[in-house]
Amino acid sequence: MPTDMLIRRLLPLAAGALGALVPAASHGAGEDQGAHGVHIERQDWTFGGFGGQFEAAQLQRGFQIYKDVCVACHGLKRVYFRNLAQPGGPEFPEQAVKALAADWPNKVVDGPDDSGKMFERPAKLFDPILGPFRNDQEARAAQNGALPPDLSVIAKARNPDYTGPFWAHPFSMLRDVATGYQEGGANYIVVIAATPAYPGHVRQLIHAACTQEPLGAKWIIVVDGDVNPHDWEEVTWCLWSRAQPQRDLFTTSDREVGNYLDPSVDPARRGYTSKVGIDATTAFKGFDFPPLAEPSAALKERVLRRWPEYGLP
Ligand code: HEC
Repeated sequence: MPTDMLIRRLLPLAAGALGALVPAASHGAGEDQGAHGVHIERQDWTFGGFGGQFEAAQLQRGFQIYKDVCVACHGLKRVYFRNLAQPGGPEFPEQAVKALAADWPNKVVDGPDDSGKMFERPAKLFDPILGPFRNDQEARAAQNGALPPDLSVIAKARNPDYTGPFWAHPFSMLRDVATGYQEGGANYIVVIAATPAYPGHVRQLIHAACTQEPLGAKWIIVVDGDVNPHDWEEVTWCLWSRAQPQRDLFTTSDREVGNYLDPSVDPARRGYTSKVGIDATTAFKGFDFPPLAEPSAALKERVLRRWPEYGLP
């Protein structure tokens, strides 16, 4: 362990013991924010909130992008071509929408015809706007197992306004995520640096990280936004000085998605795991943490100079 780090660990203790005798510099704004929460800026969109509305120009631009890009994978099947010409929608001219429907690359399956066969025909105003895949299985097969969701109601499902679903909220205060801590194995440890903004925020982040399969997290540690999650020395220091195991540590049930290669799992239960979440932040713990003590450069220099005299590592 670098000596510098040891000093940093020991000095707050010394500061506590000696009280006013040791000069202690407050760590500044970050610490205060951690303790009291921060304000999340509210986004102001015409379509946000209760009774929000889309403007025709916004919808026209959005549809243009959908048509040029997203339609390669996503459907819009709860929206009909006629909706594109209706009041309250993008309000394209009806003739233009008719032409668009007729040219739409994903044809409508209709029928049966007189001989009992199904057939494909160009779309009309009363048809839904179809994506490229006939069904979810075909979509997954083409996308390496992932299902591109139908985008008809995606703006409701992924609301940018904070009256929206609970899980949209915690990520807005996320600062950084460190994954891939390699010592001792694989990417099982995920460290999240965030500035908690309200009680329960840290738990939300941990639960969100649990369900993010690509992260592959088994141990999830949340630290304050002013801590560098990539610096393992800083993170373990937070575990020591900011987390109380009984209060700040919890485990999930053993039915989370795990890694098949994880040897700690009973072979009969491969693919499952339980997870650990640790709240190593200073926020919403019911009291204020003492200010962080940083030694002055002169003091640090003196301690470092005399360090070897005491045979310390
Ligand atoms: C090459 C195919 C492809 C294209 C092109 C594409 N997507 Fe996707 N999209 C996907 C797949 C696959 C998923 C599902 C990912 C998953 O489940 O891991 C997805 C997921 C999504 C999601 C859901 C994310 C979530 O929060 O669950 C949204 C929203 C989305 N896409 C919007 C768009 C938009 C808007 C465009 C056009 C600008 C677009 N996509 C273009 C394949 C595509």
